[in-house]
Amino acid sequence: VPLSVQIRRHVERLIADGVLVPEAKLPATRDLARALRLNRATVAVAYDALVAEGWAHAHVGQGTFVANRRAPPPSPPERTPAVPLQWDGALSRAARRLLDEARRRQGTEVTGSPGVISFLGASPDPTLFPTEEFRRALNHVIKREGGALLEYHPVAGYVPLRRHLTAWLGRHGIEAREEEVLVVNGSQQGLDLIARALIDPGDAVLVEEPTYPGALQAFAAAQARLVPVSMGPEGLRVDLLPALVDQHHPKLLYCQPSGHNPTGVSLPPATRLALLEIARRSRLAVVEDGFGAPDEGAGATTPLRALDRHGLVIHLGTLSKILFPGLRVGWMVAPPALVAPILRIKQLADLNTGALLQAAVFRFCQGRRLERQARLIRAEYGRRRAALLSGLERELPSGSTWTVPDENAFSLLVSLPEGLDAVDLLPRALERGVAYAPGIFFFVGGGDGRALRLAYAALPVPRIEDGVRRLGEVVREAQRRRRRPAHPVGAGALPVV
Ligand SMILES: Cc1ncc(COP(=O)(O)O)c(C=O)c1O
Repeated sequence: VPLSVQIRRHVERLIADGVLVPEAKLPATRDLARALRLNRATVAVAYDALVAEGWAHAHVGQGTFVANRRAPPPSPPERTPAVPLQWDGALSRAARRLLDEARRRQGTEVTGSPGVISFLGASPDPTLFPTEEFRRALNHVIKREGGALLEYHPVAGYVPLRRHLTAWLGRHGIEAREEEVLVVNGSQQGLDLIARALIDPGDAVLVEEPTYPGALQAFAAAQARLVPVSMGPEGLRVDLLPALVDQHHPKLLYCQPSGHNPTGVSLPPATRLALLEIARRSRLAVVEDGFGAPDEGAGATTPLRALDRHGLVIHLGTLSKILFPGLRVGWMVAPPALVAPILRIKQLADLNTGALLQAAVFRFCQGRRLERQARLIRAEYGRRRAALLSGLERELPSGSTWTVPDENAFSLLVSLPEGLDAVDLLPRALERGVAYAPGIFFFVGGGDGRALRLAYAALPVPRIEDGVRRLGEVVREAQRRRRRPAHPVGAGALPVV
């Protein structure tokens, strides 16, 4: 095969495989010729052919660039090695379990597109981000401590931030020593570290049903056996715990007692105490995911960790919902005996969470700035919550139910009227310009199909009103069209109010 054809085919394959992306500049003919120890004219012939066939375009004086073209890759025989390595077969059991799970949900994952009113992600509203103030904090710390902050740092976190968090948690009732407060790369990392530290394959983990999918995945990746515990209108059915503990001997219970994702509900104070008493009797570890804005003032719900007198609770928190999710700064309040194993595992995972951002967070938090931000978003999200609740009342047909979220929540869960399915309805909802997360993400076994989560924190009130109106139209229209027999309501029946 002539050398120019070999070059052309090779570049074509790189383009077709996406290794060379559109508008990438090809090496100058002179450079490539020198590197391959060829005549420059040979390379020029190859490039001319690439241009002639639409793989590349040339600009005089600038060079040759990859064209924006998607074509099936030509498959010359030398592409396939004799015995190709089967990466699929090489995957760990944990990786396969995560992939299977993702495949099961394929087609139900939606991404918001412009113009669609998206109740999809439980993210905070970026228009409420104090970005400018954070930039000033970042500038300040990089000027004062830049060199040191860009070095490796202790795995437990930037010391002034840990000290600050310890005092801040103390104001929310969580009395912990500084050594017990560890900075993690978002509470998601906290979940992963806990799973790695405590779970052996086959260990049972109790989880609220429904719950946060990221937690289900973290425990599933550690090969846990997930045992769902139903929820009622006021959160976790603590009354079901003793029998489940007897039957499954779980290693731990994962729960979100305040502003639960997806339902938004919070566990009443008396139920919190009952839960801890059961945990004490059964020697059950409790992972408390306290991911939202912490409660303050009258009616505030006390974190489980603040009520725990027996060292049973691991508490996780995060700045993702109060400040910015992009920071990836969260914390874990670990029982003393867990500190060393968690730190060893975190060291393996990432050596340490970036100190620069931790220092900027510490600087930002001076003067109770974090508390002010938490108050601001609580007030705003409270208005959005109220708008959504009255919109649902107005727009959804009878037979629909929904959970009533707590003040510090970000989302609620709707149960569609009997016989409707949230996944089936999604394409129509998208056509009508409204998106939601189908409930199957939040149930260990997928649930009964009728659930959908509406996350309202990131949407201003008029968009919420418009979005619920559209959703109401979609549901009513689906009811009119319905010919299928109703789904049975399974064990994962939704908490309704
Ligand atoms: C309940 C819950 N826990 C943990 C997380 C992960 O948060 P982070 O950004 O701190 O990793 C989320 C994110 O949405 C969540 O909803």
